[in-house]
Amino acid sequence: MPHDFMPGLAGIPAARSAVSDVDGEKGILEYRGIRVEELCDRSSFLETAYLLLFCRLPTKSVLMQWEQDIIHHRRVKYSIIDFMKCLPEQGHPMDALQAAVAALGMFYPGRNVTDVENNYWSAVRLIAKLPTIVAAWARLRHGDDVISPRDDLGFSENFFYMLTETVPHPLWADIFDDCLILHAEHTMNASTFTGLVTASTLADPYTVVASSIGALKGPLHGGANEEVLQMLREIGEPDRVKGYVEERLENKKRLMGFGHRVYKVKDPRAIVLQGLCKKLVSTCGTSQLYNIALQVEHTAAKWLNGKGIYPNVDFYSGIIYDKMNIDVDLFTPIFAMARVTGWLAHWLEQLRENKLFRPDQIYAGEHNLPYVPLDQR
Ligand code: ACO
Repeated sequence: MPHDFMPGLAGIPAARSAVSDVDGEKGILEYRGIRVEELCDRSSFLETAYLLLFCRLPTKSVLMQWEQDIIHHRRVKYSIIDFMKCLPEQGHPMDALQAAVAALGMFYPGRNVTDVENNYWSAVRLIAKLPTIVAAWARLRHGDDVISPRDDLGFSENFFYMLTETVPHPLWADIFDDCLILHAEHTMNASTFTGLVTASTLADPYTVVASSIGALKGPLHGGANEEVLQMLREIGEPDRVKGYVEERLENKKRLMGFGHRVYKVKDPRAIVLQGLCKKLVSTCGTSQLYNIALQVEHTAAKWLNGKGIYPNVDFYSGIIYDKMNIDVDLFTPIFAMARVTGWLAHWLEQLRENKLFRPDQIYAGEHNLPYVPLDQR
């Protein structure tokens, strides 16, 4: 049956899914039917992760067990740390994360993805170990010792502890946890689709997550948060915003952190993140980058809003991480620490009715050409 080619598969459903839903016209994002704003107000990252993976909010005892299981699996084998020590220290943390996650799979060879219990423990390990790997790399590349996780600390507190050897201010841990909730899942995006293509071959979940990490890295997807910060730093002062934005847009260049394939209004995650930014600066002191960002949004509005282009999730998240003194190139790995839950939720969902991805193509080449011998070309 002939089909029209849709570049980027725009608008073509790739799955039937109950994990999350976006209304791009109204600016609504729900995980398993619950609005993300409500989850940020009332839930934690780990509880939200459970909701995404297992389709319902956990009871008190189930939540306690889930949190304990994650705590128990935070440590990574010393061979993984030794392996990371062999990587070039100037390498990008996303590459180190992808390599370490792929290597992780070699330590857990139970690869029967039809085994429900095995899949539970794979999900636990991946969610628990990604922050440990990200923090370990952040320290190793500066020549610092790796810090082991602390069992008495919550998910976000422990990540800061492993990064800096200090327990963060509770407000920082709360805000960071909300950031993780907001990045945990987002329907059929490029990295989720990549993971599902890999998963459809019945590859193990470490390979699935490693391939999703590769797709998340690109600047048109998760990598945009890094580029936003570089752009805000390049602007440098609020009164240089107008000239910068106008020059870029007049020359048909893109503003990073703006635009989305699905949202035609402001991304609901950007709205929550902007609120978190405001809360952070009002408690911890002003941020020049935040002031510049507000000005960029204001200036870009008259150029872009008419085309349905508004700030997306990447526009304000980097400012929060920057204010928390996190290195810019760790922003996308932090995104991966959260999004691994969405990838795994889609993986588990797809396994119930798996079919190998094998799309079609529209051949645009020639036929019946002769082979020309090397000396006659
Ligand atoms: N700045 C300026 N103009 C833009 C932007 C932007 N950020 N985004 C889209 N446009 C314009 C395009 O130039 C184009 O204009 P034209 O029709 O006059 O040629 C029009 O909007 C449509 O652009 P497309 O690229 O066709 O739209 P698409 O839906 O494919 O774009 C994308 C989505 C890739 C996210 C795009 O908006 C973009 O490149 N944004 C910047 C990168 C970014 O922030 N990525 C993060 C996305 S969120 C995430 O992945 C977590």
